[in-house]
Amino acid sequence: MNILFDADAIQRRIGELAAEIEAGYPPDEDVHLVGVLKGGFVFMADLVRAMGTRVTLDFIAVSSYQQSTKSSGEVRLIKDVDARLEGRHVIIVEDIVDTGLTLTYLQDILRARAPKSLRTACLLSKPSRRLVDVKVEYIGFTIEDKFVIGYGLDFAEKYRNLPHIAVMDEA
Ligand code: IMP
Ligand code: MG
Repeated sequence: MNILFDADAIQRRIGELAAEIEAGYPPDEDVHLVGVLKGGFVFMADLVRAMGTRVTLDFIAVSSYQQSTKSSGEVRLIKDVDARLEGRHVIIVEDIVDTGLTLTYLQDILRARAPKSLRTACLLSKPSRRLVDVKVEYIGFTIEDKFVIGYGLDFAEKYRNLPHIAVMDEA
């Protein structure tokens, strides 16, 4: 297994992202993070702990009908957020932006709830795979077109618990 980012490198980058995010909002205004299940749960957990106290959080779950290492493009809402987003500074927290279809769908449905602002944070981005031009304000690492696992990211629901991000072996 080829390790792309070890646990220390991920934590360092998350510290930088947290500082960047906090600097981007007025100090007296709260920020509401919406984590995308399941892949985004580890990133979300570390990101909120790297941020100050003015943070609240919620989760949303989508399925991209993914059978293997390629997504089909169809996105389905499995679990909605619990709390209203109206008037809040909302940040979508996702593991990876690949084709961009999942995030485009999420941004569309969350923007319709009239948040005060809507931004997106992704730990990873694969720009060479993009099918739609989606705006992602905060990106941890840009990677090549390789299927990656670990740190929340799965292959057939496995490997989410790896502390690092690795390239999946071509079997
Ligand atoms: P998109 O809609 O094509 O941008 O892809 C979104 C979803 O596909 C992500 O939230 C991941 O769940 C999954 N995905 C894309 N690339 C990878 C990868 O390299 N490893 C694991 N999951 C991936
Ligand atoms: Mg995902």
